Amino acid sequence: MLDENPKPYPPSDDFVKNAHVDADRYKAMYEASVSDPETFWGEEGKRLDWITPYTKVKSTDFTLGQVDIKWFEDGVLNVAANCIDRHLKDRADQTAIIWEPDEPDAEALHITYRELHEKVCRFANVLLSQGVMRGDRVVIYLPMIPEAAYAMLACARIGAVHSVVFAGFSPDALANRINNCDAKLVITADEAPRGGRKTPLKSNTDAALLHCSDKVRCLVVKHTGGQTTWIENRDVDVKAMMETVAPDCPVRPMGAEDPLFVLYTSGSTGQPKGVVHTCGGYLLYASMTQKFTFDYHDGDVFWCGADVGWVTGHSYIVYGPLANGATSLMFEGVPTYPDASRFWQVIEKHKVNQFYTAPTAIRALMGQGTEFVEKCDLSSLKVLGTVGEPINPEAWNWYNENIGKGKLPIVDTWWQTETGGHMITPLPGATPTKPGSATLPFFGVQPVVLDPQSGDEIETVEAEGVLAIKDSWPGQMRTVYGDHERFEKTYFSDYKGYYFSGDGCRRDADGYYWITGRVDDVLNVSGHRMGTAEIESALVAHIAVAEAAVVGYPHEIKGQGIYAYVTLMNDQEPSDELRKDLEKWVRTEIGPIAKPDHIQWAPGLPKTRSGKIMRRILRKIAENDYGSLGDTSTLADPSVVDDLIANRKS
Ligand code: WTA
Repeated sequence: MLDENPKPYPPSDDFVKNAHVDADRYKAMYEASVSDPETFWGEEGKRLDWITPYTKVKSTDFTLGQVDIKWFEDGVLNVAANCIDRHLKDRADQTAIIWEPDEPDAEALHITYRELHEKVCRFANVLLSQGVMRGDRVVIYLPMIPEAAYAMLACARIGAVHSVVFAGFSPDALANRINNCDAKLVITADEAPRGGRKTPLKSNTDAALLHCSDKVRCLVVKHTGGQTTWIENRDVDVKAMMETVAPDCPVRPMGAEDPLFVLYTSGSTGQPKGVVHTCGGYLLYASMTQKFTFDYHDGDVFWCGADVGWVTGHSYIVYGPLANGATSLMFEGVPTYPDASRFWQVIEKHKVNQFYTAPTAIRALMGQGTEFVEKCDLSSLKVLGTVGEPINPEAWNWYNENIGKGKLPIVDTWWQTETGGHMITPLPGATPTKPGSATLPFFGVQPVVLDPQSGDEIETVEAEGVLAIKDSWPGQMRTVYGDHERFEKTYFSDYKGYYFSGDGCRRDADGYYWITGRVDDVLNVSGHRMGTAEIESALVAHIAVAEAAVVGYPHEIKGQGIYAYVTLMNDQEPSDELRKDLEKWVRTEIGPIAKPDHIQWAPGLPKTRSGKIMRRILRKIAENDYGSLGDTSTLADPSVVDDLIANRKS
């Protein structure tokens, strides 16, 4: 049985002594941040270098129909200057990025701030030479190589808006994103090595570009040297061109509210939406959370194990750490290649001080046994972090005992692509932790627990309901690219006056928050966010499929698995071959991360008389939980359910 209120783990006295923030300071700063946000953020905003300082701090409105979010709106700055140029005075020779390649025997790179400056300037000059202008969108489809960071920062330097697409997405998914944001250019590499295998990114991009305007140009980073086709007048060899352009490039002054990037993420309906983050508030929030959540100190080596294709990589590999003049480690590989000790070997090799990963990775490594950990020296570690999904107590305990040796603070950070940075998280020198709880809000964040039916705030300390946020914070997304109405509808219409997160939560007697998972049709598969609607629309696009319904079910390693109910066209017969074909189909339509774990043939789906699919029932069947199917009397044809139960794939 889960202990509803376990004994907290306080930080050690030694840790508290050196921490940026202890318990008293947290309380005082938090109080100041919510009682007078203008003054608090007005002061904190000075952490950034402004070309023209702001005079206005906060101008935000959550009212449906007029949602408008602006921070530091009249300030002018450049994000790349904040992440690079301003550090050149004091830390030009400090390593900015440590790059650890997929193959452990290949050479790791240590890129100093001076080198980073030159690479980013050259990259920016290549973009300019291709006609990229301020405000133009640039899609980045790269492996975890330094060029991914160069490309992002080069866009920021010249005021272009990047949209990074995870290298695991298929050509179709890439094409959709290029078209949705009307990108002028896509940056890719010949191949993406991962876990000893290579994904052919350039040929994926070639396939994607068949569905895009022929004006879209393609910059190619020759990374592995693998053979690719080459289309004259469209494809550009970036590395070769970087050698020919000037090593310096002036920064473009940008308004605080000019867009910095668009990042596509899954919602409960329709196609992925382009989450827009802007320059000033986002950068301030990413940098503050990186510093305080991980208690980052000058000279530390910080490793966020996410991919730059996700928001975690944006905020905690690139923008947050570099804004703070940190040393950020970027890892090309996977935790289990060549074997399950790789993470721990990388920590030993580069003397990592803060390590940030996802519960799914911990669970996968936990299953391999402790001998992979024991042979590595992890004594450099000071703080451990997790993100992406609720961490189960078993995984927390394993992480604590084997990696933290029972001594290190673990920060379980709850946040979203939409929030730009951590929202609910322990601060390691201030917050006693409880396994499985994201604990308390970051500065300026006012979480509320709402009654899901009435939408009223539950005022008691102990509460259970849906998680919403009462007021804006600087890292908040500003809009959905090209569709502000969708932005308002998705986040501000269900519960008026609040930002609705889509997550359920519980607040315990100490005021700690426990995230209970999504309350909408968004899945969290191995920490990757997937919309059931996207997978369903991929399935029904297959010629054999009449209808499909996708739900999540608990999965030991992935957190959630993908369970698809498929109704075939009348002239189709179920077969293992067709099942494989459908799996392959989803991989091509979206990418390997969306491949269903289970496909169940469903002659009919449970629907209400008005034709709405009753997902609640499908979820229960997928979970093998038939005792609590609830009321099925409103179904148009209740016998459908008996059939699904009888044929459930075990
Ligand atoms: C889930 C990832 C519990 C949550 C940064 C959220 C978490 C979604 C946690 C956002 C956590 C993230 N505990 N659940 N510490 N962190 N989530 O946009 O459901 O990829 O809404 O951002 O992940 O996923 P996204």
